Amino acid sequence: MINIGVLISGRGSNLQAIIDSVEKGEVLAKVALVISNKPEAYGLERAKKHRIPTAVFEPDNFTNKNDYESEIVKALKENKVDLVCLAGYMRIVGHVLLDAYKGKTINIHPALLPAFPGPHGSKQALDYGAKISGVTVHFVDEGCDTGPIILQQAVPVLEGDTEEALSARILEEEHKIYPQAIRLFAEGRLRIEGRKVKIM
Ligand code: GRF
Repeated sequence: MINIGVLISGRGSNLQAIIDSVEKGEVLAKVALVISNKPEAYGLERAKKHRIPTAVFEPDNFTNKNDYESEIVKALKENKVDLVCLAGYMRIVGHVLLDAYKGKTINIHPALLPAFPGPHGSKQALDYGAKISGVTVHFVDEGCDTGPIILQQAVPVLEGDTEEALSARILEEEHKIYPQAIRLFAEGRLRIEGRKVKIM
């Protein structure tokens, strides 16, 4: 059984989906630690309700990004974390975390990458006039939402959609697809071959 560390910045609904799928036995893993860069993140409350250890590291309290990420890596290692899941973690991951968890850090993004990367995936899809958007779970590399894609799910953009409505429909799919991707990782069924992820 693998240990998961989840990095959040806010609401934590994906964290909740991960916790629920683990508790239902759908994913053979343990959520060993939840880390937030914001002390007010509601996801921290969710973790506490499930007796999951939490930690808060605020970047402003560190002299640089490397020191900040070193502290994160230390906490992940102390909790024997095998897989790092970014779930609404609103920071670009740097080389310290990536060096420690290369091929072992994944992210969920509310658009069909490589379309609409960055923090406003749904809004961008809507503003662009896309007819289909969706969700992507991918391995994290040094870019912004650029790593090898594990799973994707399309979500149609409907006539008259607002950002809130589209985001809500995308979020429903996020909550299904993220646990599925974690399950594949936990079962050792993902192999990265260059830009491609082979599902065994
Ligand atoms: C999700 O839409 C996720 O795809 C994006 O940030 C949002 C986080 O939502 N990266 P939550 O905190 O998991 O509720």
